Amino acid sequence: LFAGQSEFVKGVVAMSGLPPADRMEVCFAGRSNVGKSSLINALTGTKGLARASNTPGRTQEINYFTQGPDHYLVDLPGYGYANAPLAVVEKWQRLLKQYLSGRQTLRRAFVLIDARHGVKPVDDEIMSLLDSAAVTFQCVMTKIDKVKIKDKDAVLKQVQAALAKHPAAYPEIVLTSSEKGEGIPTLRSIITTLE
Ligand code: GTP
Ligand code: MG
Repeated sequence: LFAGQSEFVKGVVAMSGLPPADRMEVCFAGRSNVGKSSLINALTGTKGLARASNTPGRTQEINYFTQGPDHYLVDLPGYGYANAPLAVVEKWQRLLKQYLSGRQTLRRAFVLIDARHGVKPVDDEIMSLLDSAAVTFQCVMTKIDKVKIKDKDAVLKQVQAALAKHPAAYPEIVLTSSEKGEGIPTLRSIITTLE
């Protein structure tokens, strides 16, 4: 369904550089290194489409990818940490916030949460921003392959409790591993059924 239908469109560094709002889009937000770019590669079945790396702060622009003719997939810079000068980090964060609260065609934001760490205060802040902007967001747990079965329940409970405080949260949480492919078909069908 998804494979071979994605291309890189452009990297955006200011709101004025966003492509025309002519189709719906979903974006992938989350702390640095949580696995946003890897998830886009897994979803599109295209290794190396979005640049992933072990160095937090890898994605520094808002990167647009097509998904077929009707959707954009949007890879965002991470928040919470970046190995860059403060002024640069502040510039990305400002852009990230402007984008999340000001993009008309943003249909759903996926907020990625590392399954080993759960929801952190910075995630909570982003969720509150999405509440204010009335952008529906859905939590995607990443790196589920790194969590022992016996620890899964505790982290899920923590995430559910965090979501309960946010009116813009979509209740279903998706568990994924970009490495093993777990949850990828589920997330694909969530995206393709959005209108
Ligand atoms: P920034 O662009 O810096 O914000 O990071 P990002 O959120 O785009 O993370 P990225 O996709 O670059 O992945 C960060 C690291 O996590 C890389 O070393 C990936 O290989 C690893 N990683 C991502 N997803 C998974 C996963 O599902 N399982 C495992 N084990 N590792 C993963
Ligand atoms: Mg990235």
